[in-house]
Amino acid sequence: MRGGDMGRRLFEGRNAFVTGAANGIGRGVALRLASAGAALALNDIDASALDAVVGEIRDGGGHAVAFPADVSSPAAVRAAVGEAIDALGPLTLGVTSAGIVEIVPALELTEQAWDRMLGINLKGTFFTLQALARHMMAGHGGRLVAIASIGAKRGRADAVDYTASKAAVVSVVQSLAMALAPKVQINAVCPGIVDTAMTPKIHEARAARAGITPQESIDALVATIPMGRIQTPDDVARSVQHFLSEEADYVTGQALNVDGGLIFH
Ligand SMILES: NC(=O)c1ccc[n+]([C@@H]2O[C@H](COP(=O)([O-])OP(=O)(O)OC[C@H]3O[C@@H](n4cnc5c(N)ncnc54)[C@H](O)[C@@H]3O)[C@@H](O)[C@H]2O)c1
Repeated sequence: MRGGDMGRRLFEGRNAFVTGAANGIGRGVALRLASAGAALALNDIDASALDAVVGEIRDGGGHAVAFPADVSSPAAVRAAVGEAIDALGPLTLGVTSAGIVEIVPALELTEQAWDRMLGINLKGTFFTLQALARHMMAGHGGRLVAIASIGAKRGRADAVDYTASKAAVVSVVQSLAMALAPKVQINAVCPGIVDTAMTPKIHEARAARAGITPQESIDALVATIPMGRIQTPDDVARSVQHFLSEEADYVTGQALNVDGGLIFH
């Protein structure tokens, strides 16, 4: 992992709350913040996978505690944030990465699927940010980052509920930036195609419809990335770290594409 001694000093003595930390980008963010010296309060709905990440961080000499909860329940998220504060002390860093994707043609999307998607990706993100922001505004301030997606800025014929949820997350970030400045800064990071469990899931569904293999579907998309490769969770985590650091002091309400050059707006 990159970071080293310079990174270790960056968040020494700070406490960070990260959702969706059991896998993929959330796990990558947790590992990076741990290597930068932060103590981690980690959330996910998958308690056993979350315990594995907590163990990984502790084995590496870091400090992490698990607070499993379903982010689509505001009461459960508020309880998890409260327990994290009781266990670690004030939280001054927060990252929302919990999310789902489903590949369904727009004309086949059901109300139940829409409600589930928006319940986790939008409602879950907002009420996590609200719980963290209430605490930070009442206390020591802080910095928040929401993981959105380039899908926030470009529709998808087979993921209308996903792209709508992510566009709305960017809107939430803009509104909260206005509500929380200057004590708390909040920004969004919009990844492109990341090497996590979510990507094969997308391409298994697309490949089945297109009559190709999932790997062929992924390869065709990766061939369109100017940087010439799929991105890693740590590619995302390094931009998250930047937004959480003093370097981004004057930046709030932004949605940064971290996508290897796929889109430019
Ligand atoms: N993988 C990509 O290519 C990609 C691209 C752009 C944006 N994103 C976004 O990044 C975020 C993380 O995705 P990922 O690729 O790491 O996926 P992932 O599936 O590897 O990880 C997502 C995590 O969120 C957790 N989660 C799901 N529902 C939850 C809930 N209700 N409460 C708490 N935790 C829950 C899962 O258990 C899982 O650990 C998501 O918001 C996703 O939309 C991913």
